[in-house]
Amino acid sequence: MRKQIVAGNWKMNTTVSIGAKLINDIIALKNEVPTEVELIVNPPFTHIIPVAEAAKQTTIKVGAQNCSNHTKGAYTGEVSAEMLASIGVSHVILGHSERREYFMEDSKMLLEKVKLTLANQLTPIFCCGERLDEREGNQHFNVVKSQIEEVLFALSASDVKRAVIAYEPVWAIGTGKTASSEQAQEMHLFIRKTLADKFGNDIAQSISILYGGSCKPSNAVELFNQPDVDGGLIGGASLVAEDFIAIAKSFPKSK
Ligand code: PGA
Repeated sequence: MRKQIVAGNWKMNTTVSIGAKLINDIIALKNEVPTEVELIVNPPFTHIIPVAEAAKQTTIKVGAQNCSNHTKGAYTGEVSAEMLASIGVSHVILGHSERREYFMEDSKMLLEKVKLTLANQLTPIFCCGERLDEREGNQHFNVVKSQIEEVLFALSASDVKRAVIAYEPVWAIGTGKTASSEQAQEMHLFIRKTLADKFGNDIAQSISILYGGSCKPSNAVELFNQPDVDGGLIGGASLVAEDFIAIAKSFPKSK
């Protein structure tokens, strides 16, 4: 059985004190979530230590939203994978479309980052997804395939198994527009097949593929009901504890 995961991407939101309230509110509601669902919060760097401290006695994992593509040294303003590992971070979101677009992150850089996370025993949450013009031009499968080939295909089978993938159609992020459950399933199945062709079916079947893009309590049930949707990477709705928890309660019982 694949891991069911709901990960919150707080992006550049909240102050440390508001973030502390948010994690405490999530902790207070956590026992409503089935134990098999893994909850991850990815706050800004400044919040990681206090959030991890608050979540210490719980099963909630704390991730980061980025890391450097360098190991260490004279890279002013950067935070390394090793530093994140040293404060108990478990996951790092990499390849988010906002990083690709606003910070010019390309596949070469992302591969370096993914390798550094894995070398530091961190789990990369590797994001892929097409822009609206690419979907409208019927290029969405090609785009996602290239994003995966250029980074994940360069890993060994045993390393790729340790990754989590998030399919995040750029046109659905923060727009209120969600991919339909059919569109999500179709792409998740395509991603799994792409992985199976390269790494074999057993590995492809073991990797959790999350959906991201305006996922909220009102559409999570339908999305999570799809056989290849193993959870969500949640932006806006992860900033409201009740919504984040409601999403985490949206998996069908049979999954
Ligand atoms: P959203 O963001 O849920 O606010 O659309 C998702 C993401 O960017 O991870």
